[in-house]
Formats: sequence, structure tokens, C-alpha cells
Amino acid sequence: MCGIVGYIGNRDAYSIIINGLKRLEYRGYDSAGIALYDGEKLNLSKTKGKVVDLEERVKKEIPTNGNLGIGHTRWATHGVPNDINSHPHVSNSGELVIIHNGIIENYATLKKELINRGYTFQSDTDTEVLVNLIEEIQKQENVKLGQAVQIALNQVVGAYAIALIDIKKPDEIVVAKLGSPLAIGIGEDEFFVASDASPFIEYTNNAIYLEDEEMAIIRKGRDIKVRKIKGDKLVDPYIQELKMNLEQIEKGGYDHFMLKEIYEQPSVIKDTYRGRLLADRGIVRLGGLENYIEKFTNADRIIIVACGTSWHAGLVAEYIFEEWTRIPVEVEYASEFRYRNPIITSKDVVIAISQSGETADTLAAIKLAKQKGAFVYGICNVVGSTISRETHSGTYTHAGPEIGVASTKAFTTQITVLTMIALKIAKVKGTISNSDFMLYLRELELIPSKVEEALKSNEKIEEIAKVFKDVNNFLYLGRGYNFPVALEGALKLKEISYIHAEGYPAAEMKHGPIALIDEHMPVVVIAINSNHYEKVVSNIQEIKSRKGIIIAVVTKGDTTVKEMADYYMEVPKTPEALTPLVTTISLQLLSYHIAVMLNRNVDQPRNLAKSVTVE
Ligand code: AGP
Ligand code: GLU
Repeated sequence: MCGIVGYIGNRDAYSIIINGLKRLEYRGYDSAGIALYDGEKLNLSKTKGKVVDLEERVKKEIPTNGNLGIGHTRWATHGVPNDINSHPHVSNSGELVIIHNGIIENYATLKKELINRGYTFQSDTDTEVLVNLIEEIQKQENVKLGQAVQIALNQVVGAYAIALIDIKKPDEIVVAKLGSPLAIGIGEDEFFVASDASPFIEYTNNAIYLEDEEMAIIRKGRDIKVRKIKGDKLVDPYIQELKMNLEQIEKGGYDHFMLKEIYEQPSVIKDTYRGRLLADRGIVRLGGLENYIEKFTNADRIIIVACGTSWHAGLVAEYIFEEWTRIPVEVEYASEFRYRNPIITSKDVVIAISQSGETADTLAAIKLAKQKGAFVYGICNVVGSTISRETHSGTYTHAGPEIGVASTKAFTTQITVLTMIALKIAKVKGTISNSDFMLYLRELELIPSKVEEALKSNEKIEEIAKVFKDVNNFLYLGRGYNFPVALEGALKLKEISYIHAEGYPAAEMKHGPIALIDEHMPVVVIAINSNHYEKVVSNIQEIKSRKGIIIAVVTKGDTTVKEMADYYMEVPKTPEALTPLVTTISLQLLSYHIAVMLNRNVDQPRNLAKSVTVE
């Protein structure tokens, strides 16, 4: 996946595109490139590396004037990240220039045909095949650019969001979308194109989100024509008013987006339940759920599909749903589910969880579940994302843009939504007592201030990070509701510090991982007040007897574990089912500080990308 930006209007296109690409680097950052039309010719520069590397390169290579341009930040799928494979790609005549997010699956066949017709290729990308296919069609059929794009896309199998310029027509950008996101910002006499609205939010609040299989011809100072890629139908596009603001997508004084997003949790958790949870009146009301409650109450089973951190939120939900609603729950990795011919019936409810709403495996799992007749409910953060549109209904988390690749606020807001859904279903089904229902509503409203309190341990956690930053392995243990938190803590550490970490159910340790324990092994144990407290205390003893080092997450006021542990991080007392919302905070901070001390690229860790839109 990657980020694309385009501009056509009267302003300086260069700075708009460069700044836009920086905001889209969460989508990929192995190479970057830009093409600018200066009124006479097209100037192009591209490089392996990040957008800052591109800026350096541009300084040496090309003039930056011009009011029309396109830019790209890449996450390679076809061809290694190098200068040549970077986008934009140019057609053989040098006249067409393209940027592309997605994969052209039948690129090899198309490439062979084009080579037979005399085309040559510089790069290994699928994208270069597409731009030459469009050129060939333009020539053969003697049609305008828009038509050539349309004909070409009808021959293409795969996914794309593209923006294309023809230097013979420098007052026009052609865009199209299938599977990858594409937003068009509408200003006065100017238009913006981007993978999401963040690159143009300071210029306009009006945007069109292209639907799959739509394309648009954008003409400077004139209009936008949107049409279907298949057939000749013109589309009357819906112009959406954006609610996002600039501050939301900038670092706001924090060193990293991840830290900003960790600290945003008290307020975004509130945003997640605002207007939906009215504790004093005993009300939970989720727009997307109201008309579908019976689907849940009549369900034989709930299947949760997700990847990564969202999958961990699903595991927490398994405990919550089964406890309160008494509906059996299965939690599946979307990538496994989609390929194993799962048994799904129309009596199943599938919940798909995804921050980005673009994760390819989760999307494929949704499509499969729908085919088999299940009702599919989505929990997404990104408004208008593909998954939010593919599901029958759903709830947004309203966590605001999550830019750090390591997911933090998405996790806690997903759990908040799942908790509200479970409470609502349980209430309607009558499987939760009224007093418990009221208690949890009130306690959920207290979570933001409890998260605030957990964050106060930041400096102490930083001290702990100093001690352990140079170890090679970590073990994370938790039980019950906090077993998924142990998995999530280990994932956070792995992905941003590159230290090996494993999460385990605390009691499972004796079936294998205990062999790893010696005086060098730090073990993070979530040992808060819970039904399992004594059992976890025994697990800690077992580790200590083997000289392991204990870093415990404890409930404020605890004395037993504090005395046993080598280091501890306190969280406020919370009813057990809601503890993941506070225990996670300590583990997020621990991994953050370790990664910073190791000089890692916290917001953009190596080999990763924010939304994984490929298999
Ligand atoms: C989390 O820190 C990861 N970067 C990753 O596991 C992520 O949660 C996963 O790719 C799923 O993404 P989604 O929620 O956008 O679908
Ligand atoms: N397939 C294109 C490439 O490899 C685009 C990459 C993407 O969108 O991830 O360059």
C-alpha cells in the first residue's frame, strides 16, 4: 500500500504535495517521488527512502515551480524499494505519468503483450505496465485520456487508486479507484487528490470519496466528472463535509505520534462513548446496532475476525461477550479464516474489527462471511473506509486519526465499543442483572479518568525502560481478561523496539516457556486484583524461584505483589472486565520508552505499514 497526492489549481503544487506525502507516510515509506508540471514540461524526481530524502533529491534535481503535480510514498509490492521502482512512472512516449496504490494482478500477461508490441520497461512494478497499457489504448483507439483509462481499467484485475497526468493536457488529472481509497478535495478553482483527506484538510472541508469502480476527470478551474468504470453511467458525486482538523493530524508538542496517541486515550475513549452511553439513565444506544439487536440476540455464535492489535481487542471481547451475553464467541485471525472454508451460517454474527478499515485479510474474511449468509458488523476507526462500507452495519470508534504504526488508542476504543455492544445485547437478552448493567455503565464512564491516572506512572515506567532496554527477550504473562493484554504488550514491544517478546497466559507458562526463565529474563506480569490474583501470585513465585526478573502491573494499593516484584507499574482499581483498558496503558508506555532509548523509528518501525492492504 502507499500514499498518493495530487494537486491542480493556482497554488504552488510542490509544498502541498510534499506536506501531504508526509502525512500519508503511515501508509508506506520505502520510497517517494513527485512529478510537477512547470508550465512547459514535466519535472520528475524520485528516490528510495522517505519523503525527507525526496526533498533533498528534489533540491538537486528539479525546479519546484508549477501548479499541477502528483506525488507518491511507496510500500513496495512489485519490485524492491529502489529509485527506479519508485513512483511516479512514465509511459514510453514520456507523455503519461502515473501514481498508483494497489496491485495489478494480471500485470505479467499485460506486460508480455506490451513487450510484443515494442514497449520497454524500466522498473519491475505492475504500475509501469498500467501506464503503458493506457498509452497503447490511447494510440490504438485514438481516444481521449479518460476513455483510455476506462478501457485499460476494464482489462485490469486487481486493486488500485491511481492519479494520472498527460503532459499534452496539463489542465487535467484523471483518477480512478477500486479497492484502494481515494479522496478528492474540492477548493475554489483548485482540486486535491489523496489517499485520505489529511493532505488537504487545511485547504478545504469539502471532499468526494470515490466509490469502487469509479473514475473522475478533474479539470483545472472547471469541474469534476465522475463516472463508472464499467459502462457509461455518469455519477452525481456526494460532496461530504469533513470534520477532521489539522491539529488532530499533527504531533501537538509530543515527540512522536505514538506518544500523542497514548496520551489522547482519556479523551478519545470519552469520544467513543459520548452520546451513546448515558449511565445515569441506564442507556446504551449505538446507532448501527439499534436495528440489528435481534441478529445478535438470536445468534448461535459470534465470530470475531481481525488482525494484529484489532485481533487482541477481539480476544478481550470474547471474555466480555461470553460472560455477559452467554453467546459463544470465536475469535479468528482474518488471514486464517478466509482460507479454511469455515463453517458459517445465517445464524452467525460476524464482527470485523479494523482501525484502518482497509486491512485486506479482514476485508476478504468479511466478503466470505457475507457470501455464506452471516450478518456482518464492523468496528472501524476510519470513517468511510472500505470495511465500514462492506459490512451490513457497524460502529465507528471515533478515536481520530491514528498515525503511529503501533496501534494504541485504536485498541482501547475498540474495546470500549465492544464493551458497550456486549452490555446492550446482554441487557436485551436478560443475561446480565440490572445492578451489574448499571455498575458497568457507570464504571465505563470512569475509565477516562482511570486511564489518566495510569498515565501518571509515565516517569516511573521510563526508569524501568532504562534498566531493560538492552535485553534481547521479554516474556509477558496475563490471565483471563488480561491474557490478550499480555499478547498486545508483547506485540507493541516487538514492533517498535525489535526486541523479541512473547505473550502467554500466565498458567500456560509451566507447559513450556518456563524453560526460558533465568536471571536474565524479564517477565512482565499483569497481576492486578482479579479472580485470578492468587493464581498469578503463584506464577510469580514460580518465576522468582528460577531467578526471573518480575516487572508487575499492579492495582494501586496492592502490597503483596509489590513486595515480590523487582519493579512495578500501578494502575487504578477497576472492575475486572474493564481492566484491559487500564493495564494496556502501562505496557504501551513501557514499549514506547524502550524503543525511544534504542533510537528506533517509533512511528514508522521497519518493515511495517499502518494499513496492510495486501495479503
Ligand atoms: C498494531 O500495532 C499493528 N501495527 C497491526 O497489528 C494492526 O493492528 C493490524 O495490521 C490490523 O490493522 P487494522 O486494525 O487497521 O485492521
Ligand atoms: N504495486 C505498486 C508498487 O509496487 C504500488 C504499491 C502499493 O500500493 O502498495 O509499486
